Order: sequence, then structure tokens, then C-alpha cells
Amino acid sequence: MKITIGSDHGAVDLKEEVKLVLKEFADIEIHDVGTFGNESVDYPDIAEKVCAEIVNGVSDRGIVLCGTGIGISIAANKIKGIRCALCGDVYSAKMSREHNDANVLALGGRVTGFGPAGEIVRAWITSEFTGGRHARRVNKIMALENK
Ligand code: RB5
Repeated sequence: MKITIGSDHGAVDLKEEVKLVLKEFADIEIHDVGTFGNESVDYPDIAEKVCAEIVNGVSDRGIVLCGTGIGISIAANKIKGIRCALCGDVYSAKMSREHNDANVLALGGRVTGFGPAGEIVRAWITSEFTGGRHARRVNKIMALENK
């Protein structure tokens, strides 16, 4: 599985921690689109870079981070084909895959600690969409893009 990851300046440290967690999985390839320092950048630009790789099929899934995770998740969800879930707990991370088929995970670098974030990422990576009635609902979500 290929995962594209990106954060604004508010979550660079958590992005590095998340990359360490992703490296626990032998079959995961990581593409980090930045940012890499403390200089201020705009989270919509990062969301656009990460999500372009999901929509274009370069990567299977994405992880986006900003200070709260809120701004970058809102931006990601404006992009056609993206279902971004902002998660602060393991149960939501698991459900975002099983019920919502989230293809992008958002985390808040100033909100969620390294330990909890690692568990959230592990749950999100290892959970799969269950389909069935949830597929009907996800299809309805995606149809909203064309209304
Ligand atoms: C940047 O200061 C901050 O606004 C951003 O990281 C994020 O928290 C926005 O939702």
C-alpha cells in the first residue's frame, strides 16, 4: 500500500512520528510531500498535494495533519473523490474505514499525542471497508459531489 502524507507547520513533529509508525508495516511505501520545517505554510495547499495523489491513483490512501486537523480535513473533503476523516480516537479511526471507506485520515498535531496518534494510525491502516449497507451510504455521499 502506498500512502501519501503531508502536514502544515502545526504538525511536522507528529508527521515524523506517524511515519515511524507506518514503517512498522513492511508493505507500506510512504511519500511525504512536506512541509519539513517550522516556516508557516497554508494547510489547503498541503491537502491539495496529498489528495491529488489519491485521486490520480499514485497512492492508495493519504494522511493529512495540521494543528487541529480541522482545517486540513475540511480542505481535503472539498476535493472530489476524497473521504477524509478527522480522528482523535481509535474507535473512530476503525469505523472511518469500516463504515465510511475513508481514503484520507486527518490528525491534529496540537491535539493528539504521539502515543494515541500511533494507535489511531495502526487501527486505520489495518481496518477495511465492510461494504453492504455502508456501500449504499458511501455511494450517496459521493453522489453529493455532483449535486
Ligand atoms: C495554523 O496555525 C493552524 O491554523 C492550522 O495548523 C490548523 O490548526 C487549522 O485548522
